[in-house]
Amino acid sequence: MSKKDYKRYLVTAALPYANGPVHIGHLAGCYLPADVYVRYLQATGKDVLFICGSDEHGVPITIKAKKEGITPQQVVDKYDGIMKNAFKDFGIAFSYYGRTSSETHKETAQDFFRNLYDKGVFKEEITQQYYDEEAKQFLADRYITGTCPRCANPSAYGDQCEKCGTALSPTDLINPKSALSGAVPVLRETKNWFLPMGEIQQTESFKEYIKRFEDWKSNIKGQCNSWLTEGLQSRAMTRDLDWGVPVPIAGADGKVLYVWFDAPIGYISATKEAMLARGQEPGASSTSWQDWWKDEDTALIHFIGKDNIVFHAIIFPMMLMTHGEFILPSNVPANEFLNLEGDKISTSRNWAVWLHEYLIDFPDRQDELRYVLTSIAPETKDSEFTWKDYQTRVNSELVSIFGNFVNRVLVLCDKYYQGIVPVSKGTLSDEKLQAAQALCFKQVKESIDNLELNLSAIKLRDAQAEFINIARAGNKYLADTEPWKLIKTDAESVQVILVDALQICAKLCVAAQPFLPHTAQKLAAMLNLESLSWNLLQENEIITANHALGKAEILYKQVEDEDINKQLQRLEDIKKANSVQPPEVSVVSELKPPISYEDFDKLDLRVGKVIAAVKVPKADKLLNLTVDLGFEQRTILSGIAAYYQPEELLGKLVTVVVNLAPRKIRGIESQGMLLMAGNDFNKLYTVAPEQDIELGSIVK
Ligand code: MF3
Ligand code: ZN
Repeated sequence: MSKKDYKRYLVTAALPYANGPVHIGHLAGCYLPADVYVRYLQATGKDVLFICGSDEHGVPITIKAKKEGITPQQVVDKYDGIMKNAFKDFGIAFSYYGRTSSETHKETAQDFFRNLYDKGVFKEEITQQYYDEEAKQFLADRYITGTCPRCANPSAYGDQCEKCGTALSPTDLINPKSALSGAVPVLRETKNWFLPMGEIQQTESFKEYIKRFEDWKSNIKGQCNSWLTEGLQSRAMTRDLDWGVPVPIAGADGKVLYVWFDAPIGYISATKEAMLARGQEPGASSTSWQDWWKDEDTALIHFIGKDNIVFHAIIFPMMLMTHGEFILPSNVPANEFLNLEGDKISTSRNWAVWLHEYLIDFPDRQDELRYVLTSIAPETKDSEFTWKDYQTRVNSELVSIFGNFVNRVLVLCDKYYQGIVPVSKGTLSDEKLQAAQALCFKQVKESIDNLELNLSAIKLRDAQAEFINIARAGNKYLADTEPWKLIKTDAESVQVILVDALQICAKLCVAAQPFLPHTAQKLAAMLNLESLSWNLLQENEIITANHALGKAEILYKQVEDEDINKQLQRLEDIKKANSVQPPEVSVVSELKPPISYEDFDKLDLRVGKVIAAVKVPKADKLLNLTVDLGFEQRTILSGIAAYYQPEELLGKLVTVVVNLAPRKIRGIESQGMLLMAGNDFNKLYTVAPEQDIELGSIVK
């Protein structure tokens, strides 16, 4: 970072899209390094605010909603909670976790937009954009599929071909199709507001700003420089979409702010909300959000994954700069990606280790996962998580080195001194012991020096390795001096050795805080330590004579082969499931003979809503539904248990044949039938009106 001493640190972690649960890739790429760094700053006594929240706008959310047959609001409500809990479970200690659907956020983002608009920053442009005449809306790039002009992949998206990785624009696609309705989209004119990035790139203030890149990690510098050399293009800051923050100016109906305009402003709105909450705490220090955003003595640090680089290192700073009142990022530590067992992590293919699932199989072993993910953090290039490696690192480093060292020291202190720290005379009886002691001290000191250095350079992987080296040095000290043998002949030297070892345990406890917060807490109780200030690492004596130690506990359990095999089996099963292609719907079933209109008119079809759904006991295929028809509620048994989970149906509109003679099935009277579309061997879908119309409406 450019400046050494800041008054305060505003650390942000990329706001995750609220469209799915959190996996190890998220954790390793962004949230864990941010948390480690924040905990380090806090231990050194710095004033830190750690901000995150759910990114609840953007096309990914609307796509998820379509897929699950629920509203975007329902999607974000569901995942906001899930994500928040997962972070909490793993000890990611945000000062505040916000949401971009909040009222404060809407106001903040709209004010920001209006500010730039009033200054004349935006360029108004009319462009041609694909429009779906059936769905009656403009199509986001992701909503258009077609054939990739590069590799002929027939299901490329309007912004990217996932097969060959080429970035595309929708008009590049051959045979474009709307993902909403399947219709062929047509080009229509639309007006949007663009950030003239090419022009801003030429300004003195931007040129001044990019000097900061010099101190940043090379992956970011590299990516940014290549964007800048290519020359930046204007980018629309408004979109024709119905999910997002409405554009706050006249003539912008049906348009929302571009999600990458509104989301980073989420850091600001979350800060405002955090300060409001803090203002309600007694004796709170500063509660001004402006201190965090408008004072040059604040270090603004954005932790992100590499796919977010351009937005945080270029676009958001341009927004802040043209607004004029805000500070610019001091650093943007971006990580590369984490792969899993030889393959890219993928939410859609379920190729991931989900945090909430990990905790079911490995309860209370958060720190083990944190440790492994920091050891393999993709700081400079993509890296890989494998379960075998997880097992090895936990067993041979946490269990055998750190856990074992601490345990030996505490057990011996308990055995020889009943847990009361003895007086250490500081000198060892013979040269061999003295040499072992000197060697240990030298290594511990070196590691502590490096621990500081690497943390400030945000190389957490190295820093954590130094942490383990401290324990390694302690272990070697015990192995070289063998106090459990020496006790019979030289009890005084044993006191010196064990007191030395206790000081190392205390330093480990301090140094563990950023990486292994749950362990640090446990160890602090075992050592009966109150303060864990980072300064203690420089002290020779943290634990003094006559101090009473707490109860020794095992810090880590061995990871067994069967634990690992279970995880590998799970992944194997997923791989198998992914390789089975669902049968193509190619069989056209035979047409039925014609009927008269009178035949058809006998059917009474009505719109209803599913208000309750349960499985019918001992009947695999049947669901027992309660359907509200407006004029009455009916019980309907439907053979769709293979296609729908009961809860998926709740609130769904359906079409009901209401004049079908009632029929008793398994002792329950079914008072009608649902219309379903699809081929039985594939999937059946409910049939519903396009709009949320009155229940009981006639279908004809
Ligand atoms: N939601 C984005 C993603 O998951 C990150 C947004 S970061 C913010 O890639 F700056 F926009 F908030
Ligand atoms: Zn392609």
